[in-house]
Amino acid sequence: MMITVVGTGYVGTTTTVALAMLGHTVCGVDVDPVKVRALQSGSLPIFEEGLEDALRRETAAGRLRFTCDLGQALPGCDVIMLAVGTPPDEDGSANLRALEEVSRQLGRLLQPKAHGRPPVIAIKSTVPVGTGERVRGWLLQEMILRGLHIPFEMASNPEFLREGRALHDAMHPDRVVVGADTPGAANVMKQMYLPLQAPLLLTSIRDAEMIKYASNAFLATKISFMNELARLCERVGANIQQVAQGMGFDARINPHFLQAGIGYGGSCFPKDVQALQALAAQSGLTLQILQAVEAVNASQPGWFLQKVKHVLGSLNGQHITVLGLTFKPGTDDIRESPAIPILKHLEEQGAQITAFDPQGMAAMKQRFPNVTYASTLQESLRDADAVLLLTEWKEVVEHDWGASWSELRQPIVFDGRNVLDSAQMRAWGYQYYGVARPS
Ligand SMILES: NC(=O)c1ccc[n+]([C@@H]2O[C@H](COP(=O)([O-])OP(=O)(O)OC[C@H]3O[C@@H](n4cnc5c(N)ncnc54)[C@H](O)[C@@H]3O)[C@@H](O)[C@H]2O)c1
Repeated sequence: MMITVVGTGYVGTTTTVALAMLGHTVCGVDVDPVKVRALQSGSLPIFEEGLEDALRRETAAGRLRFTCDLGQALPGCDVIMLAVGTPPDEDGSANLRALEEVSRQLGRLLQPKAHGRPPVIAIKSTVPVGTGERVRGWLLQEMILRGLHIPFEMASNPEFLREGRALHDAMHPDRVVVGADTPGAANVMKQMYLPLQAPLLLTSIRDAEMIKYASNAFLATKISFMNELARLCERVGANIQQVAQGMGFDARINPHFLQAGIGYGGSCFPKDVQALQALAAQSGLTLQILQAVEAVNASQPGWFLQKVKHVLGSLNGQHITVLGLTFKPGTDDIRESPAIPILKHLEEQGAQITAFDPQGMAAMKQRFPNVTYASTLQESLRDADAVLLLTEWKEVVEHDWGASWSELRQPIVFDGRNVLDSAQMRAWGYQYYGVARPS
């Protein structure tokens, strides 16, 4: 099949590569010429394990190309996937400006196909229920202005990949959800994904749009539930990890997403939880559970910092080492990372901050230019009064903590992700504080 993917960010680039790996001929389109030039030359503008090699392989095999020129990418296309960003607006609702822009451009640029079925326009971006109809409307408006009606069909194809495992998830999805209002569009999407041999759920466009928000909101709920429970565990002397393990054996609960920590971040959970609430508000409803999920998450970094202050006293002049800046390991993405409010607070309190992250330092430097960024983890520990572990990078978890003990001025570690071996850390002489992990 011939496929165009509009928007080559985290999702769009992964989608282009994955579809090319399935044997399709794929063209990625983006308005950002720097990004497109990088992709054309086989280099990935983001960090995502394994994606760059696959990008080069698929480009060399002639299945993948990139352009800024949407018009040039459209002729003969069977599917046009829209993967542009949908960031939050001021009221939390999804900002659909990029999607409208692309839809109107498509309405202006689409040409009748010489042969074969009309193209399917599939929305991969995370969008509120009803967006499929709006996209169709924007395209039709532009076609009316041209005095033409060029046939096309609509589909919704939400993405569930996790940054840090993006290509793996795109190639081995738990499920593919396709919302389509015509059997023809459903069939084209089904054919496109056939080589994946993944479970496929066919729904209406509205259902598919809702499934994506519902999934992310539910995962965020699990995290906030465990974080709130951790606060209680800490008060009553229970270990949240044991509690999570005991809960996770129950097949109705399952062990995933039960880790307490410093809260969720990233480009998806925070904005999707907000967008679902905004959608509810527009429909005259209040989603009380999600209000609480958001409130717990917003206060979790502060709760963690309270513990730091309780142990260290005033942070003014203290040398604090922050390990991990990205919202999760395996990515360079710092969007909504819990490290951001934590760094902000540490700066406000007059702490001397040194940070280390394998991939996130360049982006964080733009936001926090006064932080010292160490070139190695070992270097970041030197003379620290305390270490705050914020992202569970392998490099951090597997670091030789036993050998580093003497580097620190005070061997105090606050493990915001509960990933270090608490007994071993204490045996090495550290004052170790996890999240609801009593000694
Ligand atoms: N990042 C994730 O883990 C993830 C997972 C699932 C779903 N999603 C959803 O996928 C969508 C994209 O997310 P992302 O993280 O890839 O965003 P991103 O910001 O990394 O990428 C968006 C891309 O769209 C491009 N763009 C904007 N306007 C354009 C236009 N008019 N024409 C062509 N390109 C244009 C931008 O230049 C950018 O490269 C969002 O709706 C997001 O919620 C993201």
